Amino acid sequence: MTREFLVLEDADAVARETADRVIALGQEAIDRQGTFHFALTGGSTPLMVCPLLVVPPLVRQLDWSKVEFYFGDERAVPATHPDSNYNTARQAMLDHLPRVRPGQVHRMLGEAADLDAACHAYEALLRRVLPSSPDGLPMFDLVWLGIGTDGHMASLFPGTAALHERDRLAVPNWVPQMNSWRLTLTFPIINAAREVNFVATGADKAEAVTSVRAGRHEVPAAEVDAERTLWIVDREAAGEVVGEAHGTSGPSAPEQAASG
Ligand code: 6PG
Repeated sequence: MTREFLVLEDADAVARETADRVIALGQEAIDRQGTFHFALTGGSTPLMVCPLLVVPPLVRQLDWSKVEFYFGDERAVPATHPDSNYNTARQAMLDHLPRVRPGQVHRMLGEAADLDAACHAYEALLRRVLPSSPDGLPMFDLVWLGIGTDGHMASLFPGTAALHERDRLAVPNWVPQMNSWRLTLTFPIINAAREVNFVATGADKAEAVTSVRAGRHEVPAAEVDAERTLWIVDREAAGEVVGEAHGTSGPSAPEQAASG
């Protein structure tokens, strides 16, 4: 198990690195097993990265017909709802990739009247189609995650029941902070992944990211420990630069050099 932090200059650099990592891991997986099992995150991360994946050069660098798309979490809303992570991914990427058939996209059924049954069905799908980890769990090739300012990832929010789930791989989770139900993968399957890529930008994530780096375990994201966990963050999210909106900070070295 390795955990690495890659601190890049800005959000554009984070987006480029994250997109490049998708292509590299995708090609490795397709070469290894003929399929790339890729779990997407919700939130705004996809809006930053997906535009790079759907145009040349990157769109031409992977056989998208061999990618199976999954979701780390979903809101309890229909697939057409603006809050739906599936809807975001569909608009930002899935509708624009070549040769992606509907059967390659495995969404969590946020509209289900019985969310528990929907999560059991999702788990059954994962156990049926994913290769097994050394521990016998379904193993994603890549799990994309964002991090909330409170240190949540997927829909594993501080103080919620799903944080403690160690048997089921996908569960409904009542999130009082959002006053809503969510569907989420749980730590066992996230930590069974070949690789997890956390993507975070902006000064508002600095407290959460630095808490993870300090190993503070009350932060849910600190519990993610896959075969390889790579954090791809910008300097603001790493706490190296205080964002403009949060007070002044001296120019970074390159800026100092430029201003002489
Ligand atoms: C969701 C996401 C959630 C998200 C974080 C960070 O469904 O909202 O899965 O875990 O990744 O809240 O969101 P941002 O990247 O938009 O800040």
